Amino acid sequence: MDPKNLKKIIQNEFLPDSSGHDIYHLERVCGLALKIQEKEGGDREVIAYASFLHDVHRIMGGKIKKFCSPKDSLPKIKIILEKVKAPKEKIEKILHCIEFHEEYGFSKKGKTAQDIETLILQDADNLDAIGAIGIARAFMFGGAYNIPMYLPTCPFRKKYFNEAKFDISEIHHFYSKLLRLKNDLHTKTGKKLAKKRHAFMKKYLEEFFKEWNEKDN
Ligand code: ADP
Ligand code: NI
Repeated sequence: MDPKNLKKIIQNEFLPDSSGHDIYHLERVCGLALKIQEKEGGDREVIAYASFLHDVHRIMGGKIKKFCSPKDSLPKIKIILEKVKAPKEKIEKILHCIEFHEEYGFSKKGKTAQDIETLILQDADNLDAIGAIGIARAFMFGGAYNIPMYLPTCPFRKKYFNEAKFDISEIHHFYSKLLRLKNDLHTKTGKKLAKKRHAFMKKYLEEFFKEWNEKDN
């Protein structure tokens, strides 16, 4: 598979995105996923196709300003896969990866997918949600969906994370999701890459609260 063909077809829809799901997010996820695949195995072609098409639901949701699930995007993705002449016998598998890539151990439903391709896509996508880039993407999402930066009087840490509901502030989102991702990864390679990104986010939050409280000291 040549991801460039796929990129050409989808880039018009993804290039103008300002919610953290632009074409470069797809490129980074694909790169990270293939890097993980080299060590952990799985079908490279399935992983590459699924990486480039995993956030079509986000573009659909952005248009109607309402949450769309990965499952909602499957009919559209099927058409794209046929258009780029993806191997017929791999289409079901690619759709499966996309449908189940947004599962979290800390959500009410928990995780169900167990196949290596879906687990690798989950790890790669979650790596791009943490660290320096993850921080930038979080605030991009907040801006695009009118989520406040921080609301200091609201309590932290919900028991369960719900992907379909916005957090009360983007800083709250760090506690409901982003800081929990490190322990939710599956692959050894993903876990290794997550360490530095997680530490950087913690340092970032430390500085954020120091500056926020500066006026009190
Ligand atoms: P990914 O592409 O990693 O699946 P998402 O699609 O969940 O990421 O969204 C991109 C980023 O936007 C997230 O990593 C997060 O920082 C932010 N975000 C997503 N959902 C929410 C939410 N419900 N409330 C606040 N911020 C969110
Ligand atoms: Ni993504």
